[in-house]
Amino acid sequence: MGKATLTGKGRRWLLKGHPWVYRDDFAEVEGSMGELINVNDPSGGSMGWGLYSTQSRIAVRMVTRSKEQPNRAFWLERMQGAVERRARLGMMEPEGACRLIGGDADGFPGLVIDRYAKTLVVQSGSQGSDTMRDFLLGLLKEAMPFAPDAIIDRSDTSVRKLEGLEKRVEVLEGTLDGPVTVQDGPLTYDVDVTGGHKTGHYLDQSINRKDAAKLGVGGRVLDAFAYDGLFGLHAALAGAKEVVCLEQNKAACERIMQNAERNGVADKVRVEKVDCMKDMRARAESGERYELVIVDPPAFARSKKEVEGAARGYVELNRRAIDLTVPGGSLVSASCSHNVKAEDFIRMISKAAHGAGRSVWLENLAKASPDHPHLVTLPETDYLKCAFLRVG
Ligand SMILES: C[S@@+](CC[C@H](N)C(=O)[O-])C[C@H]1O[C@@H](n2cnc3c(N)ncnc32)[C@H](O)[C@@H]1O
Repeated sequence: MGKATLTGKGRRWLLKGHPWVYRDDFAEVEGSMGELINVNDPSGGSMGWGLYSTQSRIAVRMVTRSKEQPNRAFWLERMQGAVERRARLGMMEPEGACRLIGGDADGFPGLVIDRYAKTLVVQSGSQGSDTMRDFLLGLLKEAMPFAPDAIIDRSDTSVRKLEGLEKRVEVLEGTLDGPVTVQDGPLTYDVDVTGGHKTGHYLDQSINRKDAAKLGVGGRVLDAFAYDGLFGLHAALAGAKEVVCLEQNKAACERIMQNAERNGVADKVRVEKVDCMKDMRARAESGERYELVIVDPPAFARSKKEVEGAARGYVELNRRAIDLTVPGGSLVSASCSHNVKAEDFIRMISKAAHGAGRSVWLENLAKASPDHPHLVTLPETDYLKCAFLRVG
């Protein structure tokens, strides 16, 4: 069995609550790939149990601060808790979708499991979650209120490299014949769980989309960085007069139109396959204006080093978005860069407002939907900022 003894600094770090312990913070640490090991303070007292990585700088991801070794009953209770929390949020209707397991923030280091109707998509990002995958899937099936039709392993993220793991995409159970259909309130849409972004879809914006849709009723809506167009499609169903979706990914553009047709709103939805940064500038300069503008770009700052460049990108993008909004209209502006803090993001928006010569009010600063928990001692799980703004 592996063993781990912290340095004094490592002990102090762990006491602050962060669940990741770096290799440098151990006086000694050894174990096999993904093994559950006991973590001890410098004098040999147990500080809990964590999953070991032979490769990553993060040598141990804590599972529990209890002295007792986690057993089957411990993991089943944790799994049942995760499923019950989603049920209490009203996110467990069989035809809907949600994040069932949100990694370290849910107490399952490195493991994400998203549910699209009755299809489960697993994304494992660490040696520990690879080792625990099949055991935890067995417990999840016990905890779920209905049986899954299919389970897909979509472990193809780049973080696996840091753990010395290969990427993989495989069907673990059941069969998958094309996209999975999901019902999200009034909207029916298809998800490409093997080829789409992330596990197939951006579930973290599910509540923000419905809130944004209310702001576009009767007006023109611009959905920039649209992916499958779900902001725009919700707005169309809520009563927008016209919706323009901008996206550069060809497959996503095709899905937007397919989803518009199946929801009976194809007559008011238009898709343009463009580079948003260039297109929005040209659109603003030609005088186009919208009652609601949504900008939901990919993360501009993937590391701390990229924050400065990202700041320029966010200011420029929000400047164009403000230009494109009618006086009295709404702008919903998101950033999913964990490295850009909420107060800095608002400063970037205020710089954009100043550049545009417009007044902008922050009406709400939303986060990811609550099925994507934010563990306060793990700041990495606080990444999505979605600013609901009124533009004067
Ligand atoms: C965070 S996702 C958007 C999610 C989407 N709003 C939703 O609700 O599901 C960012 C999207 O921007 C697209 N994208 C990235 N850079 C782009 C660019 N320069 N122009 C247009 N689309 C871009 C990506 O293909 C991706 O679909």
